[in-house]
Amino acid sequence: MQVGIIGGTGKMGRFFADVFSSAGWDVSVSGRKTALTNRDVAEQADVVMVSVPIRETVRVIAEIAAHLSERQILCDLTSLKAEPVRAMLTSPARVIGLHPMFGPGAESLRGQTIIVTPARCEPEDLTLLLDVFERQGASITITTPEEHDRMMAVIQGLTHVSTLAAAETIRREEVDVAESLTFTSPIYRIQMGLIGRLLAQDPDLYGDMLRMNPAVPGVLAAFEDAVRDLRSVVESDDPARFREYFARNARHYETYGSDATRETDDLIRCVVSR
Ligand SMILES: NC(=O)c1ccc[n+]([C@@H]2O[C@H](COP(=O)([O-])OP(=O)(O)OC[C@H]3O[C@@H](n4cnc5c(N)ncnc54)[C@H](OP(=O)(O)O)[C@@H]3O)[C@@H](O)[C@H]2O)c1
Repeated sequence: MQVGIIGGTGKMGRFFADVFSSAGWDVSVSGRKTALTNRDVAEQADVVMVSVPIRETVRVIAEIAAHLSERQILCDLTSLKAEPVRAMLTSPARVIGLHPMFGPGAESLRGQTIIVTPARCEPEDLTLLLDVFERQGASITITTPEEHDRMMAVIQGLTHVSTLAAAETIRREEVDVAESLTFTSPIYRIQMGLIGRLLAQDPDLYGDMLRMNPAVPGVLAAFEDAVRDLRSVVESDDPARFREYFARNARHYETYGSDATRETDDLIRCVVSR
């Protein structure tokens, strides 16, 4: 089988080129500077995978759509799913949306999750692709593009916005990062690790994920309200209000509490033993 990766010169494209090579597939790649064009890849490969920056994705799909046939599988790795899948469906190809929930620094697919949004395909198309990933240890979550984007507004949108907001607050408070680490508790060190890790990455990827997911504004509005409400609880003179606020949330996370404590205990042990 042959997979052609458009944007295969990029970080995730290279990662998936290795995944398919390890599975014994022929791999070809195109980028803006490769001799092979996007159209060549679209015309030749059994599976065409689009792995270009989010803001380029729909345009690149539109460029290749007319060169695909109904025998081919068209998939993408975009961190958003509704718009790219809609664009892929304008081609005659079989369409499967993918979103790897990890970055290109992962050592392998072992223990990693890939979200899959099958849009127009036969069961054997899905098996062909998912076998490659599952045999290398990935877990698969199947959903719709819309549900994916709604979940990502929380899983990526809320997480990255709250991390960036914490980074901005620490900077505005003129707290020296290195000095603060000499006062550190393990939890603060983990929080700082998340801030440092995020800020060491590609701003365009994170900007696109936040700006281009239509479900993000609603989640951010809820986050803003939550911060405002929490501030009023913290600044009130009434300890019962804080206790009630805390208990309401503890009830919502009740069944998760012991797993969360066990997992974060492992993290704390790692941080403390370094
Ligand atoms: N990085 C992550 O952590 C991560 C995680 C999950 C999913 N994703 C998704 O993976 C996709 C790629 O992200 P990435 O991090 O691998 O980005 P990247 O490293 O910037 O790679 C994107 C590649 O696309 C190529 N490209 C840009 N415009 C193109 C065009 N018109 N035609 C053909 N190739 C083009 C670029 O190659 P040239 O400059 O050589 O043209 C570049 O190598 C995105 O959709 C992103 O949402 C990324």
